[in-house]
Amino acid sequence: MRVLGIETSCDETAAAVVESAAGRGGRILSNRVLSQLEEHRPFGGVVPEIAARAHLDHVDRLVAEAMAEAGLGFAELDGVAATVGPGLIGGVLVGAMTGKAIAAVHGKPFVAVNHLEGHALTVRLTDGLDFPYLLLLVSGGHCQLLAVEGVGRYRRYGSTLDDAVGEAFDKVAKLLGLGYPGGPAVERAAAGGDPARFALPRPMKGRPDCDFSFSGLKTAVRQAVEKAVEAAGPLDERARADLAASFQAAVAEVLQDRAARALARFAAELGRPGPLVVAGGVAANRSLRAALAEVAAAAGAVLVAPPPGLCTDNGAMIAWAGLERLRLGAADPLDFRARPRWPL
Ligand code: KG4
Ligand code: ZN
Repeated sequence: MRVLGIETSCDETAAAVVESAAGRGGRILSNRVLSQLEEHRPFGGVVPEIAARAHLDHVDRLVAEAMAEAGLGFAELDGVAATVGPGLIGGVLVGAMTGKAIAAVHGKPFVAVNHLEGHALTVRLTDGLDFPYLLLLVSGGHCQLLAVEGVGRYRRYGSTLDDAVGEAFDKVAKLLGLGYPGGPAVERAAAGGDPARFALPRPMKGRPDCDFSFSGLKTAVRQAVEKAVEAAGPLDERARADLAASFQAAVAEVLQDRAARALARFAAELGRPGPLVVAGGVAANRSLRAALAEVAAAAGAVLVAPPPGLCTDNGAMIAWAGLERLRLGAADPLDFRARPRWPL
């Protein structure tokens, strides 16, 4: 099977074609991603109206490029998938309408994909991982631990009570003057920093549930910045690096603690340790991946993570989720409505 996937729910316009492989897993025939970084940079974050217009300007070209790179015409596809939520509704509408139009014109099934399911199933494309697995989904808008039992079968262990972890990275980047997008900038700054210089809280650590909270950590970083500025004037590069490293270490420790708790619950339900998967934009962070690999190993489990380039938003994950749904005989009507909110 070959499926075209279109992703436009945030600030990446993306189109890709994937193919199911003979055994497990799949093959990416093309994967085009256009980041709108430069359009949003002056505003220090994603501006929904600018994003929607940029998606409209670029989506047709990206689809054409993805098809050309895959060496396929629309007639050779088995289906067309597009993100239909959750996300910034203007952008979601652009991608969903594009996918529906292609499906209608070429008489192909249309699959309305939940963006979170795209992140959740990516490891089945890249690593051919079998169900069930424990998923830590960490992106700009979400932070959840879920037992993934099948396509469309998710059981939530816990989620954030306030900010998503990517959101915390983005806000801390702003506080430190590291600019947008925040996650990669904080990771770069942290690489040269001392993670022990600033004592920051580890919110929710040790709690018996699997929930998260990051707003207190973000506030603690703001207070540390204010104190440092009061004592020594504007932050220098050293202070920035140490703050970034201290923040990233706090996040790592919290994720480790929450994941360890979820791994224990998952193993108890399964009767054996099951794999831990980390996905979503924040999963691109190398030091967080290393921290999670440690807790997985301690629990007798393995950590499986998509390559960093497939952690952040892309079309291949949407094409793959569409392919998995089509394989189960699921397609969606062309009047399927876009959903700004759509929990897994
Ligand atoms: O999955 P994604 O591309 O978009 C959403 O679905 O939200 O995730 C974007 C989020 C942003 O908050 C970004 O700062 C964060 O992922 N991110 C990172 C890194 N790369 C992206 N956070 C920490 N370290 C990174 N290397
Ligand atoms: Zn995403």
